[in-house]
Amino acid sequence: MKNIRINQQRLWDSLMEMGEIGGTEKGGCCRLALTDLDKQGRDLFVKWCKEAGCSISVDQMGNIFARRPGQDNSLPPVAMGSHLDTQPTGGKFDGVYGVLAGLEIFRTLNEQGIETRTPLETVVWTNEEGSRFPPAMVSSGVFAGAFDLEYGLSRADLDGKTMGEELQRIGYAGNTQVGGRAFKAFFEAHIEQGPILENEQKQIGVVTDAQGQRWYEVTLTGQESHAGPTPMPSRRDALVGAARIVDLVNQIGMENQPNACATVGLMQVFPNSRNVIPGQVFFTVDFRHPDAQILAQMDQALREGAARIVEDLQLDMDFEQIWHSPPVPFDQDCVTSVRRATEELGLSHREMVSGAGHDACYIARVAPTSMIFVPCEKGISHNELERADADDLAAGCNVLLSAVLERANA
Ligand code: GLV
Ligand code: MN
Ligand code: MN
Repeated sequence: MKNIRINQQRLWDSLMEMGEIGGTEKGGCCRLALTDLDKQGRDLFVKWCKEAGCSISVDQMGNIFARRPGQDNSLPPVAMGSHLDTQPTGGKFDGVYGVLAGLEIFRTLNEQGIETRTPLETVVWTNEEGSRFPPAMVSSGVFAGAFDLEYGLSRADLDGKTMGEELQRIGYAGNTQVGGRAFKAFFEAHIEQGPILENEQKQIGVVTDAQGQRWYEVTLTGQESHAGPTPMPSRRDALVGAARIVDLVNQIGMENQPNACATVGLMQVFPNSRNVIPGQVFFTVDFRHPDAQILAQMDQALREGAARIVEDLQLDMDFEQIWHSPPVPFDQDCVTSVRRATEELGLSHREMVSGAGHDACYIARVAPTSMIFVPCEKGISHNELERADADDLAAGCNVLLSAVLERANA
């Protein structure tokens, strides 16, 4: 059993075929959560899993569970998976790799006629990106009890459409209860989305922890007025306030190096007319740090600094932390399984902390969980230029296979 290997070409071809759904001219992918394209991607995954002999169940958050039976189906499954939704200018690998690696493992085991003791499952978690419906990882969060179902289903996009409505519309509002489903272990394979593995020429990241995140939504309100006759000293320009806060966010990130990340990624200016002083600005802030205490200090610095800026500019501010995902230590035994698998396969590796959020961060609350990273070209992700090497993807999938078999047969 030790010597079985996944089929590299088949894994690659499946990634490329999935990547055509929402494929962009620059070679990336735009498959936002719960759009028609997301439905097409889900349908293709379900079709492939049925062809591989799996049974499918879908829960009320649209999470899809493809199950390959084991020898003893009363045992909880060993699960794998990630997400199929992408960023607006996303790539073909973020999330999709972890899902199709699970499928490739089913196909390999079928081909070799291998039955595992526990069943196996590959899971597609709905709306991991949180790009269309904030926050990120919301459906694995409901599964793990971090959010209630009503909160999950009522998350809305910028047009006011909710996840519940959009799940109904695309036919993925399942009827299985969300959560309460035991996993013997959960493993998520993913591209690193940063440059460390490539720089150090390591093929596998043995992920021990994930950093914490706080997301905010800020609305500044001043007064729209004419860009010509309104004297500079009497303006209440909401965009000037936003600009200063953007700079503050960046400073807070820089002051908390080496590990802090601080980003304003979305902004809406009202009325967004070139000769009107902006009366209102809405924007988001994304803070990350592996140390919960430093993340809390960053939070405080933002609150205090933003309050000073709006006072100075006589703006009103609505400031809300909409999400807090604390740092996550992954399960020691799962990390050991991944490390052992990597060593047995003779692959170069290093331990690392995930900079990105992943569904595994929430699943770690309810099941022994860890992650496997593979390099991505120049560390670029959340970008249409996101690339990964077929050899590396296969290596990560072989590590996943080996760790899953160890757990399923233990
Ligand atoms: C999810 O992709 C994240 O923002 O880390
Ligand atoms: Mn991802
Ligand atoms: Mn992502």
